[in-house]
Amino acid sequence: MEQLQVIRTNQPKHKPNEDELGFGKYFSDHMFVAEYSSEKGWHDSRIIPYGPISLDPSAMVLHYGQEVFEGMKAYRGAEGDIILFRPDMNIRRMNRSCDRLGIPQVEPEWLLQAISKLVEIDHDWIPQRVENSLYIRPFIIATEPCLGVRASQEYKLIIITSPVGAYYSSGLAPVSIYVEDQYVRAVRGGTGEAKTSINYASSIKAQEEAKRQGYSQVLWLDGVEQRYIEEVGSMNVFFKVAGEVITPELNGSILPGVTRDSVIMMLKHWGIPVTERKISVEELFEAHQQGKLEEAFGTGTAAVISPIGAMKWEEQSIEINGGNTGEISGRLYDTITGIQQGKLADPLNWRHLI
Ligand code: COI
Repeated sequence: MEQLQVIRTNQPKHKPNEDELGFGKYFSDHMFVAEYSSEKGWHDSRIIPYGPISLDPSAMVLHYGQEVFEGMKAYRGAEGDIILFRPDMNIRRMNRSCDRLGIPQVEPEWLLQAISKLVEIDHDWIPQRVENSLYIRPFIIATEPCLGVRASQEYKLIIITSPVGAYYSSGLAPVSIYVEDQYVRAVRGGTGEAKTSINYASSIKAQEEAKRQGYSQVLWLDGVEQRYIEEVGSMNVFFKVAGEVITPELNGSILPGVTRDSVIMMLKHWGIPVTERKISVEELFEAHQQGKLEEAFGTGTAAVISPIGAMKWEEQSIEINGGNTGEISGRLYDTITGIQQGKLADPLNWRHLI
């Protein structure tokens, strides 16, 4: 593995007030960059001061969207140690996304070292407050200057980090979601299970409409029958119906979330029944009418565990659990964030110390 070059900034930035972090608005002092060419593979790894990059206007990512990204977080433990949460899962998923987008994969150990070194250098950007964290965004873009539609021969891998608070402006209060029945996010065989910018770009119009109607997120239905629940804009989704927790099964068009997987593992560890299966939107609204829809929540790195207090589908608007955080959502939130922050035991071995 080649030597990692480090050039430190001589103008460290002013750190933002931790009360006003929001999500993804501030960036730390440094970033990691590496290049790929078909002759050299991944090379020229370096950590340099955070700043603009230069791209040829014909760089392929700007025209055909060949890009993948990841999202993970670093936390400060009680002893001042730096904790990552299941980074191996994100790195594996990044390589699966690369495979789907025709992008060369990365050596997992190399990427983990790059992330760890960057976070270590910018460790004083990890927020102090327990509800905040340092969000880590690795991404790869196609940089070859060419307008032909084919795989680029050149790429850049960049890692940036951002001190963040709660993803939603409502903080940890339950969010309201809007079932999208006109547009779809993904279809089986498409790119739905890859973490790539194109899935998010195609969701923006519906997201804006949901916002206009006073909802914070869109709930996507499957792209074929527009009947089965897939995921929410930036989260996977779970429901508690008559004592059982259910979540849409991974079908090729749903993002395989790391928090989703952790929630399923934790529920099983607690002995709470959890099933991955197809869930139709009719079934869900019927369960609500019968008084059986007890809780709903989203899961994601950015959103952590986000209770859902209200849903709208066509003309029906429902409130879930009186619009309050449910018992399982609350317990999962406390447990998963407690493990991430090093405050609770880690029975499933999820913490990775830098
Ligand atoms: C994450 O949870 O890390 C995500 O990637 C969601 C993001 C699009 C905000």
